[in-house]
Amino acid sequence: MKQEDRYKELQMTKVLQFIEDNLTTPIPSLVLKGSPFESVSIHSLVNQIVGKNKAKKKLPSWFENKNIIYPPKVNLEQTSSEITANHKSKLIFGKRLIDLTGGFGVDDFYFSKRIQKLTYAELNKKLYEIANHNFKALSVKNIQCLNVDSIDYLKKTNFKYDWIYVDPSRRNKNQKVFLLKDSLPNLLEHQDLLKEKSKNLMIKTSPMYDIEMGYKELSGIKELHIISVKNEVKELVWVIDWRAANSRAMKLFNYSSLKKYRFEKAETDEIQTDLISLSKCDKYVYEFNSSIMKSGLYDHFASKYNLDKLEKNTNLYTTNSMITSFPGKIYRIENTDTIHFKKLKKDYKGKFVNIISKNVKISTESIRKKLNCNIGSDSDYLIFAKTIEGNRVLKATRV
Ligand SMILES: C[S@@+](CC[C@H](N)C(=O)[O-])C[C@H]1O[C@@H](n2cnc3c(N)ncnc32)[C@H](O)[C@@H]1O
Repeated sequence: MKQEDRYKELQMTKVLQFIEDNLTTPIPSLVLKGSPFESVSIHSLVNQIVGKNKAKKKLPSWFENKNIIYPPKVNLEQTSSEITANHKSKLIFGKRLIDLTGGFGVDDFYFSKRIQKLTYAELNKKLYEIANHNFKALSVKNIQCLNVDSIDYLKKTNFKYDWIYVDPSRRNKNQKVFLLKDSLPNLLEHQDLLKEKSKNLMIKTSPMYDIEMGYKELSGIKELHIISVKNEVKELVWVIDWRAANSRAMKLFNYSSLKKYRFEKAETDEIQTDLISLSKCDKYVYEFNSSIMKSGLYDHFASKYNLDKLEKNTNLYTTNSMITSFPGKIYRIENTDTIHFKKLKKDYKGKFVNIISKNVKISTESIRKKLNCNIGSDSDYLIFAKTIEGNRVLKATRV
């Protein structure tokens, strides 16, 4: 049976209904019962159910489209989310883009709205077939799909694209990787080729990729976007226009219903880390959100908010009056004490509390064991931190 016919079988009304009805059925019980349809295997049904469930949060508008075919979970995990893909698409302009790592095609779906003609290139035949099908299901008309090694393809073409986009595979020989040199394709080996064939380049890297390493390994950087969703860094996006020297302009984002923000550090902005003053713990303590922590610019932003720092290497800040617009967590401090585990154990044994450990060389799990307490509480926190007065425990409530 041809692949497109298999997809058609999956889209029969009764099959779609079965998928819809079983979105919350435990997978082992589905597998045990087997497929109720002669022409559709239980494996394909389970794959659609798992895929749809994953898409519900990550790709809500794809989830709504009944004709989408999902790839195996391992490929779905590597795709961009609707939020981050949409973000990147807004940075694109011009006529032609080639995506060297098409995958499930999420990024390309959003890019296709912003560019005249787009080339999707993917090595994996099954993924290519799925993406080809899904673009039709999503009524996209300006994407050409190729099942090729995109590096070979790029070597052969004489075309210079307005944009090349690469989201290298972070699985290599079944191992999870995050360094560019280990990802596929290895872009570090092909920077000259990329430069020759593109006016602009966009690279997505893992949130675990070290920013300083990026500035060393990559050339022509125009700006770096650090994109968080609900305070979790999801993507580092390197925008490259092949300028002579790397710019350190950074843009930080958090997409969240509560603490949504956008900050920019322009290339010319001086980094004001020397201006930060140290102070003992005051009434409020602040912890920056993840994009800002990842940027390494926490002291720079703290000085803009007029915050004092608890200690040079403790990334917690303090003020006397509350700054509600602060992009991160705010704690109201009830009291500050030296650390006496025996005394704390008396107070917290068996109780529920959240523990934070900052620069005191003891993990939260070791502290939990010492106090014999349970982790979790809506608002109660014990913050163990090195301060300018020495190591302290701050009893706090989250504001
Ligand atoms: C992280 S995924 C891309 C996900 C995609 N951005 C999305 O949002 O769906 C990386 C993809 O690159 C593909 N790939 C790796 N090396 C390639 C090459 N040389 N040519 C074409 N595709 C390649 C892998 O098969 C994998 O599907």
